[in-house]
Order: sequence, then structure tokens, then C-alpha cells
Amino acid sequence: MQNLDRGDAPGFGVYIHWPFCLSKCPYCDFNSHVRHAAIDEARFARAFAAEIAATAARVPRRTVSTIFFGGGTPSLMQPATVGAIIDAVGRHWPIAPDAEVTLEANPTSVEARRFHGFRLAGVNRVSLGVQALDDGALKALGRLHSAQEALEAVAIARSIFERYSFDLIYARPGQTPQAWAGELKRATAEAGEHLSLYQLTIEQDTPFAALHAAGKLVPPGDDTARALYDTTQSVCASAGLPAYEISNHARPGAECRHNLIYWRGHEYAGIGPGAHGRLDIAGERHATATEKEPQRRAPSRAAARARRDRDDDERQTAPDACRLSRAGRGGRRPRSLR
Ligand SMILES: C[S@@+](CC[C@H](N)C(=O)[O-])C[C@H]1O[C@@H](n2cnc3c(N)ncnc32)[C@H](O)[C@@H]1O
Ligand code: SF4
Repeated sequence: MQNLDRGDAPGFGVYIHWPFCLSKCPYCDFNSHVRHAAIDEARFARAFAAEIAATAARVPRRTVSTIFFGGGTPSLMQPATVGAIIDAVGRHWPIAPDAEVTLEANPTSVEARRFHGFRLAGVNRVSLGVQALDDGALKALGRLHSAQEALEAVAIARSIFERYSFDLIYARPGQTPQAWAGELKRATAEAGEHLSLYQLTIEQDTPFAALHAAGKLVPPGDDTARALYDTTQSVCASAGLPAYEISNHARPGAECRHNLIYWRGHEYAGIGPGAHGRLDIAGERHATATEKEPQRRAPSRAAARARRDRDDDERQTAPDACRLSRAGRGGRRPRSLR
């Protein structure tokens, strides 16, 4: 693994959480929700700006070195909303001229015009949730895209952004180290400077957890999970993308700087529903967390109606788990900060 202390310049990051997705993946416990009605993005942008202002009042005189739009699926936002939030950050803290501004994207919401819009808004790096380069595995993970669509999204990202990365999930039920080596070699051929490779974690209170408890979803056992991890290290190192932390791999010098802020213990502001932060205030370090569901704080008839709509929207369909084959147990993803 690369030495994380290399070039350890202090940085200040801003994490922005966009909590909406087109559908809820059965393995995911991120604060992400499905809304069938249109999102009032202007209202969200105003709320984010207010939160940025309040945070800047607590930690003034910082220079922003990274901004990270995570989710959820931030690529569902209008580029103008992304631009308004970056402008709000810039009104309260200076943004370094070489700041890294990353946006997470789901392959189903990637199209060239929108990506150009993100670039014009100030985004200079994208991270795509590809998850697998195998259609059967994508279906079993409950994803809406095919491997071909994912590769097309990677090609669009590559044509517009100098810096792009994509995520894959491994240690999937039935996955062998040989099959994973083949998939990963394909991935490294498509990758630019960075790849995020997460072992599947069975998260509590997800449809995958229920299937796992019922014995209908069986991830690889510890020995296979270890072999899959070792395969990950060797294939990526041979491709010039060594690990720089547990789940992230990069060409030396091309690590995600925002991720390094987490791992090196620097400060970052967490903005948006359920976002976490780490701030030094009056000489003391603080872990911060925002309200996960702000609407619960404002009970009103409108909020109750919104809650009912949301509950309707979030009725999850069972994943096609029978397609997931059985192969031992275990295989938890080493947790990476996001
Ligand atoms: C917020 S999502 C990324 C962007 C986008 N929402 C998407 O899924 O395409 C962050 C990443 O976390 C990973 N992830 C989420 N839940 C996971 C789990 N239970 N086990 C392993 N990786 C997981 C996925 O690789 C996902 O791309
Ligand atoms: S994995 Fe990504 S797209 Fe799927 S529910 Fe989670 S945040 Fe949304």
C-alpha cells in the first residue's frame, strides 16, 4: 500500500450530500431516498447555502482544497444547482485555484450535455458507480444499468473530465478469484488514474440483510474473500494503480485528495442531510453530523403528506436474489470513509 503520509499538506474539504436516487439498491444503507415527484432543487440549494453559512461562521478563515458531491446520486442534480452550491461555498471561504471538485454519478444519469454542464459549473472530477462489468451481477445487485451502458458512461466521463474514477463491488455471492481477476483486468483497461473497489458489505436493515438472514444470499467465505482481496491488490498493482487505502487505488499522485483529507485526519465540513464533518473549533476537534431527515423536525400537514408520499416511494422491491449463487459466507467490505 502506498504511504499515506506522502505530501501531507493540510487541506480543508467540503462534503455535500445529495440524498436522492432513481431507485434504492438492495445492499445500500446510505442516506438515499427515492422521490417520484420533482425535487425542488432551488429550495435545496438555499438550504445548503444556509448550512454552509452556519458552518463557515463556526470555522472561518479556511481555504477550501476539495469539494465532494456525494450521495445518493448527485448526478441527478441540475448543473445549475451544483453551480449554486459551489458559489455558496465560495462566498464563505476562498476556494483554492487548484481545488479538486468531485461529483458522484450513477451510469443511468450520465449524458454528455449534463456532464458538460457539471464541468462548466466547476466540477473537475467524476466518480461513477459502475459496480460490476457483468450483466448478471448488475441485475443481482439491483442496478438499472447494463455493463455496456456503464462503459458508455465511463467513455463520456473520460471525454469530458481529465480526472475520473469508477466504483466496483466485489466479493459478490458466487464470485471466484479467477472471474474477479478477469473483470478487474477489463476495469483497469478502462480506468484512468483511480478506481474504488469495495467488498460487498451486508448492511443492517437492507433487503440484502434480510435475504442473508434467510440464507438466500450467501457472500463468499473468509478464505475466498481474502483471495479476492489479494487478487484486487495484485491486478491493480500490475496495472499501475496500487492501493492507497483499503478500498481505493490510484496512480501515485492521482489519489482522490478529498479522500486523503478523511484518511489523514484533516478538517472537512459535512453539508446536507445526514452528512458528517470533522472541525477544529476553539482548539478542540469536533465530529459533526447534520439532521438525517430534516423534515421530521418540522411536523406540519405538508410534512406529514410529504412523509406519506415518501413512504410510498420507498417501498422496496425484493432483489432478484435467487440469481445470486451460493458460495460460503463472510466477505465484508473493509469500510472506507466516503
Ligand atoms: C453513494 S454510492 C455512489 C454513487 C451512486 N449512488 C451509485 O451508486 O452509482 C457510493 C459507493 O458505495 C459503494 N457501496 C454502497 N453500498 C455498499 C455495500 N453495501 N457494500 C459495498 N459497497 C457499497 C458502491 O460502490 C457505491 O458506488
Ligand atoms: S448505491 Fe448509489 S444508487 Fe444505489 S441506493 Fe445507494 S446511493 Fe443510491
